[in-house]
Amino acid sequence: MSDTQPTRAFAPATVGNIICGFDIFGLALGEPGDEVEARLRSEPGVVISAVHGDGGRLPTEAARNVAGVATIAVLAESDMQDVGIEIEVWKGLPISGGMGGSAASAVAAVVAADALLQTELSSEALLRCASEGERGPKGDTHPDNIAPALHGGIVMVRPDEPGVVIPLPVPAGLSVALVHPDLELETNEMRGILPRELPLTQAIRQWADCSALVVGLYEADWDLIRRSLVDRVAEPHRSRFIPGFEAVKTAGLEAGALGVGLSGSGPSMFALCRTATEARTVASAMAEAFAEAGIEGADTHVSEVANTGAHMVETPA
Ligand code: HSE
Repeated sequence: MSDTQPTRAFAPATVGNIICGFDIFGLALGEPGDEVEARLRSEPGVVISAVHGDGGRLPTEAARNVAGVATIAVLAESDMQDVGIEIEVWKGLPISGGMGGSAASAVAAVVAADALLQTELSSEALLRCASEGERGPKGDTHPDNIAPALHGGIVMVRPDEPGVVIPLPVPAGLSVALVHPDLELETNEMRGILPRELPLTQAIRQWADCSALVVGLYEADWDLIRRSLVDRVAEPHRSRFIPGFEAVKTAGLEAGALGVGLSGSGPSMFALCRTATEARTVASAMAEAFAEAGIEGADTHVSEVANTGAHMVETPA
């Protein structure tokens, strides 16, 4: 393998939960995203040569970095612990921004490492390795960002079968307006503030909305999709951490969005829209509402839901 060329992979931003489906639904944007390059090295184990675009904040010790942990998992999964890999990470996504940044790094790392080692791991194994990078302090995983970053499109994951990804149809034109205010919210903290139990009446409404969203996607029924985009699980508890949340939501809906909510655990907010043109109008209205709430200069990203997830990219000459 000594003449093996470096491999480089891109994995996109993702929106976890999609409002009604806490921990079970996720979707992929076309861009932005993170890139990871993998190279063979002579010493066994994984090292990170550099992380770019993080302002020096992410650990470069492989065992403490999501991309590093995910790459270590690929070596273990392939029974190649005697092989050495050096990775380099380019962060295109913000840290703790609710845009699936750690999932993108982990997924780009496993795709690049799998290509470098020519191991052709199954998509279930790739998902498992990437999830290792994201494992929370209690050992739990919630692959609603990892799964769409790997597969693209809109996907459903079920906690009882965490490796199984169920793709859902993407109605033609379905687009995302993603607005990232310059704030950070730690996913683990935002999980910690949620109540452990949900009243049965609320749970019934929530699983009805999840089911309705699936039917709405299958039938490209915009009105059913719109009516199903309600979050009784996380939004009531998390929204107070985002200045202007209600005004931004109202602005997005008044500008024509089907639904507006938190992207993952926030602070980014997103809107689902029928077309990219509509999503551009909605994104501007949401960013303006953030500015009126005192959060100037929120970044906006508009993309159709991308049917392609992580993919190989050229290594610069
Ligand atoms: N479903 C997760 C949450 C998103 O809302 O906590 C981050 O993976």
